Amino acid sequence: MTLCERMLGFAALPPSPTHLAKPKTLFVCASCGSTTPQWQGQCPTCGEWNALESAPAPARGARRAAATGTLGADLRAVNSPDVERRTSTGLGELDRVLGGGVVTGSVTLLGGDPGIGKSTLLLQAAAAVGGEQAVLYATGEESLHQVALRARRLGLDAARVRLLAETSVERIIEEAGSAGARMIVVDSIQTMMSESSEAAAGAVSQLRESTAGLVRFAKSRDTAVFLIGHVTKEGAIAGPRVLEHMVDTVLYFESDSGSRYRVVRTIKNRFGAANEIGVFAMTEAGLKEVRNPSAIFLSRHEQPASGSIVTVTREGTRQLLVEVQVLVDSTALTNPRRVAVGLDHNRLALLLAVLHRHSGISLHGHDVFANVVGGVRISETAADLPALLAVVSSLRDVPLAQDLVAFGEIGLAGEIRPVPYGEERLREAAKHGFRRAVVPAANRPRQPIDGLQVLGVQRLTEAIAGACG
Ligand code: TYD
Ligand code: MG
Repeated sequence: MTLCERMLGFAALPPSPTHLAKPKTLFVCASCGSTTPQWQGQCPTCGEWNALESAPAPARGARRAAATGTLGADLRAVNSPDVERRTSTGLGELDRVLGGGVVTGSVTLLGGDPGIGKSTLLLQAAAAVGGEQAVLYATGEESLHQVALRARRLGLDAARVRLLAETSVERIIEEAGSAGARMIVVDSIQTMMSESSEAAAGAVSQLRESTAGLVRFAKSRDTAVFLIGHVTKEGAIAGPRVLEHMVDTVLYFESDSGSRYRVVRTIKNRFGAANEIGVFAMTEAGLKEVRNPSAIFLSRHEQPASGSIVTVTREGTRQLLVEVQVLVDSTALTNPRRVAVGLDHNRLALLLAVLHRHSGISLHGHDVFANVVGGVRISETAADLPALLAVVSSLRDVPLAQDLVAFGEIGLAGEIRPVPYGEERLREAAKHGFRRAVVPAANRPRQPIDGLQVLGVQRLTEAIAGACG
């Protein structure tokens, strides 16, 4: 007996293996996907209430086996084609947000509000691809009859599209395998169930298992998979963010309420640029692509209006002409209101401070409301200069010329700083009939642009004088 055993009074047994493999439970947040070892009413990461669900933690042994189970491959020896193989979806705008067509074996998640057109878009894409390759459209939301009716109404006729009303991932995979499908559409991932999880459809572990099964199939069989995802009222794809990490590409379908235009935005893309946009119009005959959408958000005023100016913003690789409107109104409030829709609220406050300090124009006794027309959100600093020009125009009640555009970043010292792609922005403005532009001096084009008079400015005061002149 060892000293220790003598003190204990009995011989110590070796620790039992069951002791080591004590099952551990983790709690996963259905909203943000973060994990915590203890159940709590509120997620410690995102603050969502009642969102934690239990999920078994992966066993240690399993993790180790997975880590050592594969031998690395020499990068140069991996046999892969020089470029990704891509197929066109028949919709140029959808190809564009995918980075130039659907990549073989890729998994794409398409999220968006109910009724925005997710099923319509992917049914149109399935029909286009299904002209030549086998495609499986699996729906857990609608009956076969409904999908077929819609396809007929849209005038879609593809020889090789198979419809399946099914919510079992295993059966979808089986069907896709036997049909030799090159593309699968799953409508929607929240309705799907995998045998490897006992949770209800839509629960975190179920979404994870269903998606994992489809991802494995996509990669092993070189089949492109599209997953449709519902969106919560906060605008995120319902279910954990893990879904976004598991797929190659995440697209969001957006629309301004009441508008027939629909924008598909790339949030993440392993095969192309993120933040690219594709623009569609919802018509009687389904979604039609808008190939030259730069001016769709623009509506011309009959009469010049004070507080309004057009700017050129960039979305992905595309220029968009949008109108920035500002209303300045006198107020008796000690804390005047600063409201920004489509622009950053803090940025607006900062710009007003620069305007006061460097141009002597004070808005202390005024409320300021700023809006980007058409529900567009501008997140780049190129909107600084137009926003301040609109502020001054509204304050002084002096309309700016209707053929004027402006863009540029404003620094805290009142200097006008250049923005990327100045020349492309100016060319787009000229194409749509604008005749004058006030832009950062460094963004002046090297070659003159036909029909466009460009004023390059370095200081805010210069810009205000130039815009009014
Ligand atoms: P849908 O694709 O079912 O939306 P989601 O799958 O995102 O829920 O689109 C349904 C909406 O689109 C519905 O409100 C009607 C409209 N729509 C048209 O205007 N034209 C059409 O040709 C189609 C098919 C739908
Ligand atoms: Mg749908």
